[in-house]
Amino acid sequence: MEIRLDVWEKFYAQRVRSIRPSIVRMLFAAASRPDIISFAGGMPHPRSFPVKEIAQVIKEVLDQADISLQYGPSEGLWELREEISKLMKEREMNVHPEEILITDGAQQGLDLLGKIFINPGEAVVTEGPSYVGALNAFLSYEARIVSVPMDEEGITSELLDEALTLMEKKKEKPKFIYLIPNYQNPTGLSLSLKRRKEIVEIADKHQVPLVEDDAYGYLGFSPNTLPTLKKLKEDAIYLNTFSKIFSPGMRIGWLTAPKPVLEKFSKAKEAENLCPSPFTQKVLVAYLKRFDIKNQAKKVAQMYQERCQAMLEALEENFPSEATWTKPEGGLFIWVTLPDYFDTTEMLAKALEAKVAYIPGEAFYADGRGKNSIRLNFSYSEVDVIWEGIKRLNKVVKEQFKIYKAFYKINSSKKEKARSKSLKEEK
Ligand SMILES: Cc1ncc(COP(=O)(O)O)c(C=O)c1O
Repeated sequence: MEIRLDVWEKFYAQRVRSIRPSIVRMLFAAASRPDIISFAGGMPHPRSFPVKEIAQVIKEVLDQADISLQYGPSEGLWELREEISKLMKEREMNVHPEEILITDGAQQGLDLLGKIFINPGEAVVTEGPSYVGALNAFLSYEARIVSVPMDEEGITSELLDEALTLMEKKKEKPKFIYLIPNYQNPTGLSLSLKRRKEIVEIADKHQVPLVEDDAYGYLGFSPNTLPTLKKLKEDAIYLNTFSKIFSPGMRIGWLTAPKPVLEKFSKAKEAENLCPSPFTQKVLVAYLKRFDIKNQAKKVAQMYQERCQAMLEALEENFPSEATWTKPEGGLFIWVTLPDYFDTTEMLAKALEAKVAYIPGEAFYADGRGKNSIRLNFSYSEVDVIWEGIKRLNKVVKEQFKIYKAFYKINSSKKEKARSKSLKEEK
């Protein structure tokens, strides 16, 4: 006998109730329609994938089928951990291969963070706004998200210090501070050197673990010389991924943490996926040994710089003066801020009618803020498509402006009439 759909409800675990419907996934279907220009996803450009190079190493991988097509170690293949350790040393992070755990993309690292640190109701501090996939991972463990506002230099250190002090007064300690210091998702902003140092001091002062997500660290339009938080603070937990510079379809990321913490991650991960795919890890190892991944990352970044430039110019030429936007120096995204009274979630239906898609800013907060912002992705569209898409979006924004202005005019004239009526009555 089948169980009725409504009856399933009572079988779900409590934490399932805190999983938000993913606007990104909901948008995916609409945004992948061929007539829609989508700035919604966070996808690398397909031409950024090193297809020819992968084809060159694939035979070598299949010649080692006893490893590549077999189950592998839960922590990931040793040779890949060695290669990653070398890459990290080049950025002055002294991490031994033993301290590296291979994950199914950085996203699995985020889920594991929730799994090993968060009890229901406990706080996690993030940038406001922050990566929607991280928020959702933490929320699925029933975290309380405390988001600290950003400015052009990244998360504001005074406000972070204030938030932590306030929590201390209430005898509360967040489980960790989660930050994306380089070319952040969704704003494209980077944390300044001064702020990096201040954040490390604040984390030390309040004795709160620091988690660095460096998913875009290799995607600077010019060489990224800023130190990672991990370099400034040896015990920071550090996550990264090959998704943005090699291929997201390979699903390979990694994390490093102090050894006892890594053991907890490792045990938790074994229950999730037994082991990361030895096949894709072998492909990556063969690639890393034969080619220069930094050169590959540089090519990808150059490709995106051209697109970012086009989007900035198109915004400059088209968008109303009331709008402001970030000017990223790397990564995949631009963050546009409209006047406070805008509701970009509501506006999305109109944008889709006009055949252009974006992600409303609200998705990047856990508390309904961000309604007057939008995230635009520039990595996936060609330059001419970017120009056309921004023109379409501009029409929608301008229409919306007219509606809001008319609404405020009517409302303020109603208020004015009511005020003069009451003044007359007073007389
Ligand atoms: C900041 C950040 N972290 C992690 C991820 C997850 O990436 P992946 O699981 O493909 O490595 C993303 C994906 O967009 C991201 O933007």
